[in-house]
Amino acid sequence: MAEISMFLIISTAWAVIALVLLIVAWRLARVGSIAAHRNIMILLTVGAWVFILNYLFVQRYGGEFGTFPREYVPWVALHGSLGLVPLIGATCLVAGRLMAGRNAFSRHFNRHHKAYGRTFILVWLFTHLGGIFNAFFLR
Ligand code: HEM
Repeated sequence: MAEISMFLIISTAWAVIALVLLIVAWRLARVGSIAAHRNIMILLTVGAWVFILNYLFVQRYGGEFGTFPREYVPWVALHGSLGLVPLIGATCLVAGRLMAGRNAFSRHFNRHHKAYGRTFILVWLFTHLGGIFNAFFLR
């Protein structure tokens, strides 16, 4: 049980920090501070992978997890599935920039970086808000 509470505390703190950093990184891109935007987005993308892998690990080995009320199952499934969109999307945007000019994959994501970026950031913000909601109301 102790590790579950610790997981909850860390994941809620991470959700709040990531929420703020997403907005900061978005604003930085808008005003042309691309290096800072890039660094924060890489940090958030790596952080999201660490969070998800740790989540799966806690699910598997953490004991009594998934004991939220049954009627919330569709919401939790929606939340988790939607969360994969910015996770995979941001990974493609970061990979695209890092491989710039080298292949059709990076050309595609770099050409549409702004449109994809805005979409993923919005879904990402929603996912974190959902995560914070879950932390307060479902446990
Ligand atoms: C190596 C990582 C990244 C680099 C080097 C980078 C670079 C840039 C650059 C140069 C721009 C200026 C406009 C443009 O290119 O069209 C930009 C804008 C933008 N980026 Fe990134 N980016 C990175 C990662 C990401 C990621 C992972 C996301 C979101 C998931 C993102 C979201 C955005 C958004 C929303 C804008 C447009 C801001 C606006 O005008 O609304 N970026 N980025």
